[in-house]
Amino acid sequence: MLDFTGKVALVTGAGSVGAGWGNGKATAVLLARQGAFVCGVDLEPRALASTTDIMTAEGASDRWLALTCNMTISDQVKSVVDQCIARFGRVDVLVNNVGGSAPGDPVSMPVEVWQHQLDLNLTTAFLGCKHVLPVMEAQFDSTGKGGAIVNIGSVGSHSFQLGGRVSAGYAASKAGLEAFGRSTAIAYVRKGIRVNTVVPGSMHTPLVEHRLVKQLGAADAEALIAKRHAAVPMGFMGDAWDVAHAVAYLASDEARYITATHLVVDGGMTAARSA
Ligand SMILES: NC(=O)c1ccc[n+]([C@@H]2O[C@H](COP(=O)([O-])OP(=O)(O)OC[C@H]3O[C@@H](n4cnc5c(N)ncnc54)[C@H](O)[C@@H]3O)[C@@H](O)[C@H]2O)c1
Repeated sequence: MLDFTGKVALVTGAGSVGAGWGNGKATAVLLARQGAFVCGVDLEPRALASTTDIMTAEGASDRWLALTCNMTISDQVKSVVDQCIARFGRVDVLVNNVGGSAPGDPVSMPVEVWQHQLDLNLTTAFLGCKHVLPVMEAQFDSTGKGGAIVNIGSVGSHSFQLGGRVSAGYAASKAGLEAFGRSTAIAYVRKGIRVNTVVPGSMHTPLVEHRLVKQLGAADAEALIAKRHAAVPMGFMGDAWDVAHAVAYLASDEARYITATHLVVDGGMTAARSA
């Protein structure tokens, strides 16, 4: 089950903003544990170095390639894909995980922040697909095996704002990401390529302590964390492994008949809010 032996996965945002497990870091490590060759990409060399240490400790360094790249810049993304192919020969799985939120509505949010939200959450996935899809299509033509793409969305794009605040750019770009995924999936549905989106709810990743505490002005990180746990019908936030397991499933051969859709991983939040 969920065997990735011999497969090559490219995971973007494969570090995390702080110590601990971010969604991309957990996904990269899980896919390596399941046998994949993994190319991990991140803007921050230090974040990536931490993932490299884990891969080394797990004896997977010969199946790991760490590349620093700004996923909003097309030439850099192209170079990453080229380096991944030079090292591992193909790309079977692309995980478009780079993203993050900034608070604000159309009036309070500066145009530059809005634009950056679209670039960070949407253009990164567009560029990943732009440079990986031709590779997967060529693989399909020559070997009959295309690939799987998994985007990381957010429930912030569905029915409510995480933490009770408005993040219009995040909501719009993550909603756009799901639509982008569906549209791309149908464009490539006869070419052996599946595209889906994992939609996490409130997850306890290092982002909570490192970014949200500052953005929300919460003096007490523990109070913020308790509030986030309490807001989930299950009574607790998920973690990066919950996201990683969903990604691994959608990327696996077991999900061969699943495309152009999304999988919500939120402990019941979305359903409870819309009930
Ligand atoms: N943590 C949550 O509660 C939560 C909830 C819903 C969705 N998500 C989504 O999950 C994804 C990962 O979240 P996380 O909590 O692990 O965040 P994180 O910030 O810990 O990890 C993201 C990584 O992406 C890297 N990165 C940022 N900009 C980049 C760029 N331009 N190019 C390359 N790398 C870049 C960062 O350096 C960081 O290592 C994001 O898309 C986020 O929106 C998170």
